[in-house]
Amino acid sequence: MTTPTSRPEPKRLFIKTYGCQMNVYDSERMRDVLRPLGYQPVDGPETADLVVLNTCHIREKATEKVYSELGQIKKMKEASGGKMTIAVAGCVAQAEGAEIMRRQPAVDLVLGPQAYHKLPEMVARASRAAGDRLETEFETLEKFDALPKQREADGPAAFLSVQEGCDKFCTFCVVPYTRGAELSRPVDDIVIEARSLAAQGVRDISLLGQNVNAWHGAAPKLEGGGEWGLGQLARHLSKIGGIDRIRYTTSHPRDMDDDLIAAHGEVPELMPFLHLPVQSGSDRILKAMNRGHTAEHYLDIMRRMRDARPDMALASDFIVGFPGESDQDFEDTMNLVREVGYAIAYSFKYSPRPGTPAADMFGHVPEEVKDERLQQLQTLLKQQQTEFNASKVGETLPVLVTGKGKMPGQAHGRSPWMQAVHFDAPESLVGQIVDVKIVGSTMSSLTGEYAHVVEAA
Ligand code: 5AD
Ligand code: SF4
Repeated sequence: MTTPTSRPEPKRLFIKTYGCQMNVYDSERMRDVLRPLGYQPVDGPETADLVVLNTCHIREKATEKVYSELGQIKKMKEASGGKMTIAVAGCVAQAEGAEIMRRQPAVDLVLGPQAYHKLPEMVARASRAAGDRLETEFETLEKFDALPKQREADGPAAFLSVQEGCDKFCTFCVVPYTRGAELSRPVDDIVIEARSLAAQGVRDISLLGQNVNAWHGAAPKLEGGGEWGLGQLARHLSKIGGIDRIRYTTSHPRDMDDDLIAAHGEVPELMPFLHLPVQSGSDRILKAMNRGHTAEHYLDIMRRMRDARPDMALASDFIVGFPGESDQDFEDTMNLVREVGYAIAYSFKYSPRPGTPAADMFGHVPEEVKDERLQQLQTLLKQQQTEFNASKVGETLPVLVTGKGKMPGQAHGRSPWMQAVHFDAPESLVGQIVDVKIVGSTMSSLTGEYAHVVEAA
């Protein structure tokens, strides 16, 4: 998921360049990729937030010079209270990466000449792993503590935040820089909040997180301890009286483990709706996006999901016009959409976000090509959404009544697949799960006739 970028805090960058013209050029490139993150070059290392030594390996003496320079910078890092990040780049880094870390533990990161486009990601990771660690933990506790335990529920469907942050570093996305590392809320806190919501009449809970299926936590001792993933959490929450429907959003294909897929086959409360963004159907583009999965891996998850739960409806996010996307790459995306068949999907034109590696890549796609591709993709997705809704006409569905309609006697609700359903029913049914016979559909909703209240399980 993505939030708008705010202007980064100004930070001080000092790069010392050794050796050849190639290194001088590379140092310029590093300044360029770091500028959008707020790094301004300064003349000396003393007060810098980030010091990069762009090294040369041509003579042994040059290498030794780097180590002696690092000794000096280490003292400055200590004087800064450990706030300074030290990076070693260039040929020495390439040649003896691990050795540098061993000989000088004050070094936070080492990167070879092929990795400069990854510098923003590496700097973000290093500053989290080092000086920011305590601060992150503090912020996190505060963040989850700030959510009132006895939250007021607003209607029978509610969100429950279980996870924050993202470590995936997709090359187009600002979230790992703005929201920080992946962090899971403890099981006990989640259970307390779920119980409280249930007590207030909530029946449909959506577990929320930037990478919700990366959630993991220590199981309660009563349950035998050990480490739980989202599948186990869902099994546990499904036993809370009153919680009839459990969903989670948004997931990442890399964290879709076997247990979560199996849980969909075992836990009736886990709703048959999965929002699993794929972004592109082209392996070349997925690689450039640093997604960490291929189209086939994604399709395999989809097939296994549908094996576990045949009525599973699927949702996704797509980006068109990522740098370097060819007509063939786009066609691969269209083919993936045809193969999966989505219930709903969100699609975007690629837009460069300052500080992300993709903003700096070659092959930006002209705006008119992005427009054309977006239109083609959305036409197909709208058609699939319309067909999915139409496929429910004639069926009787269990609908959670979420509120009253505009006119007296009208109500609206939510199907197991997140579809909005409009029908005539008394207001007293709000909060109940009722059987509704579906008689009509559009791209965005269903209309139906109320039959009767479904007995609670
Ligand atoms: N350009 C276009 N779309 C983006 N998204 C994230 N970053 C960008 C970007 N730079 C989309 C992805 C993500 C969704 C929430 O927003 O598809 O899944
Ligand atoms: Fe952004 Fe990728 Fe993380 Fe989603 S998984 S929040 S797109 S970096």
